[in-house]
Amino acid sequence: MISIKHINERDVDLCFELDSNTISLWSKRQWTNEFKKEGTKVFGILLSNCVVGICVLDVVLDEAQINFFAVNHKFRKKGLGTYLMNYLIKECKKLNINKLFLEVSHTNSSAEKFYSRFDFSTVGIRRNYYKDGSDALLKEKKLTTK
Ligand SMILES: CC(C)(COP(=O)(O)OP(=O)(O)OC[C@H]1O[C@@H](n2cnc3c(N)ncnc32)[C@H](O)[C@@H]1OP(=O)(O)O)[C@@H](O)C(=O)NCCC(=O)NCCS
Repeated sequence: MISIKHINERDVDLCFELDSNTISLWSKRQWTNEFKKEGTKVFGILLSNCVVGICVLDVVLDEAQINFFAVNHKFRKKGLGTYLMNYLIKECKKLNINKLFLEVSHTNSSAEKFYSRFDFSTVGIRRNYYKDGSDALLKEKKLTTK
């Protein structure tokens, strides 16, 4: 069974583990700091009570940025990322968020394709943004409230 859970700092180890096994974005200390930020919301997608994907949303007034979005390798291409993104979009609408942003490497074509399905469009490029020298594409999705 699929469900969504709001994750708090008690689950920092779980977040760090999923991150380490997927995109290796943040250290454990960075994850701990994420939970301390005002406006940060962390959602996990659970499959039979096991967290298999995580999303970190940073809300500032009527805009939000997705700072982390990953599904465990073993569980990809089963619709779980789509489920999590649809949930996130619904939450953003409830919070009256007008614009949703994210950054993705220009080399990450599978994630780009995934985001295109949700009508994210490229609104900027940050050259040499990632450690490997790749560019970050800044993506935006406009949301209509209600
Ligand atoms: C991007 C990501 C989150 C997608 O998660 P996911 O769970 O695989 O997403 P879905 O299963 O909903 O969709 C992925 C693809 O599988 C397809 N799919 C879904 N269910 C399927 C099924 N039962 N059989 C075959 N294909 C299926 C979808 O159509 C989709 O195809 P598309 O993206 O080419 O349109 C995942 O690949 C990931 O964690 N990537 C690494 C992290 C990353 O790059 N994050 C973004 C930058 S921060």
